[in-house]
Amino acid sequence: MDTLQHVFKGTFVHSTPSCPMEVLKEHIIGIGKMGRIMFLEDAQEQTRLAQKWGFDESDVKELSKSEFFMPGMVDTHIHAPQYSFIGSAMDKPLLEWLEHTTFPTEETYADLEVAENVYRAVVRRTLKNGTTTACYFATIHTDASIVLADIANHYGQRAFIGKVCMDSNKTYPKYLESCEESIEETERFVDIMEKKKYDRVKPVITPRFAISCSERLLNELGLLADKHQLHIQSHISESTAEIDEVLRIFPTYDSYTEVYDKNKLLTNKTVMAHGCYLTDEELNIFRSKGAAISHCPNSNISLYSGHLDVQNVLKHQVKLGLGTDAAGGYSVSMLDAIRKAIETSKIIFMEKQKENRENKKMYIDYKRETVQNGIKPGPIKKMENGTDYQVLSNQEAFRLATLGGCQALNIDHITGNFEVNKEFDALLINMAAEDSAFELFSDIAIEDAVQRFLYLGDDRNIKEVYVAGRCVVPFTNNA
Ligand code: GUN
Ligand code: FE
Repeated sequence: MDTLQHVFKGTFVHSTPSCPMEVLKEHIIGIGKMGRIMFLEDAQEQTRLAQKWGFDESDVKELSKSEFFMPGMVDTHIHAPQYSFIGSAMDKPLLEWLEHTTFPTEETYADLEVAENVYRAVVRRTLKNGTTTACYFATIHTDASIVLADIANHYGQRAFIGKVCMDSNKTYPKYLESCEESIEETERFVDIMEKKKYDRVKPVITPRFAISCSERLLNELGLLADKHQLHIQSHISESTAEIDEVLRIFPTYDSYTEVYDKNKLLTNKTVMAHGCYLTDEELNIFRSKGAAISHCPNSNISLYSGHLDVQNVLKHQVKLGLGTDAAGGYSVSMLDAIRKAIETSKIIFMEKQKENRENKKMYIDYKRETVQNGIKPGPIKKMENGTDYQVLSNQEAFRLATLGGCQALNIDHITGNFEVNKEFDALLINMAAEDSAFELFSDIAIEDAVQRFLYLGDDRNIKEVYVAGRCVVPFTNNA
């Protein structure tokens, strides 16, 4: 039996498959030396638990009334090299943005010193902002991608690292590798990563997107992922211009989803970013393969790509997480992703409402016209009422940022909430931090306080960050 390393008492807020936000007040949690949750019970059980687990009751760390623990947040899609220009170059749509800003920047990561500087900064910044798991795109450069893996491991972040693959595109040949090179380098990358045997940093097969990959490369990468049972990530149906281009390049495929699916790239370890324009049929394919979508609302708006209808994805029972997609998105904070996900859902609500009004008006005009012409108006198909559309709740967005992300990455059996035996990836939130961006004026319900943190909080409220029981923020002096 594992021995304890931490015992905390206070409020715990997390999600379960049946409850988007469960608040456990006056609870006590024990974390073993291996990083797992040994118990989580009502604090009244403290004396009994102390005897059972052999801890001293005076060693229990008690949270203040303005503090709570929540699960660490999971960024299911982020481009580490793009952190160097985050918040700039936001005035072009996706394909132009890639060509003018992204590819030229990523090219500089052949230089390991450039990589080391930016990668250290992005790992530290995301950890400080509560991202305990990140699914990263690096660049085509294998050695620089290994640098990112080493840094994530050093700082204790749980991470998936993708050496990017791209071998084909007439518009930007100078940024590409050959197909052979891409396959060989991916094999080398996977090989080095496997030898490193990092506990919580793993390789992920990363074809950039269908536009920049030959059919042969997609096919070989699908086989490689299958051979090593690896995770897979890419982009799908992000913008209409992108989809048109995919269908032009791959005329024998029926849909964007089919391009990946027929090349074995949709598995239960796949996370595809965006998916704004996926049809119901494509979502059904995702569901049947157990593949997930990473919803990146900041990027979808910043690159004016589109909106993902989260409710429709959930209705199709497709696994869903949130992503920052930095630097297509201008923030690496998952709190921002939560807010933008809710706001996107409200925008969709308003669009549906507008559509509904237009339909109603059309019907009224039609009725008036037919009556004027002495014709009895026929039945009109029932129109969807815009108000039926459920806006994403803050509780559900919280679940997507934590447990949902773990489900998307197929690690929800390892972490994602405070279930006993899972690894303790957690944030200690202090809503009364000295320099907090918001105040709590009175004794409000914890549910309301959590909501205020989700909307107004930032890294100043994230007092400590734990990954598998290890306190990784604040950083130690030598890190
Ligand atoms: N599609 C292909 N590459 C990228 C990228 O770097 N960012 C985004 N947002 N979409 C992409
Ligand atoms: Fe992306």
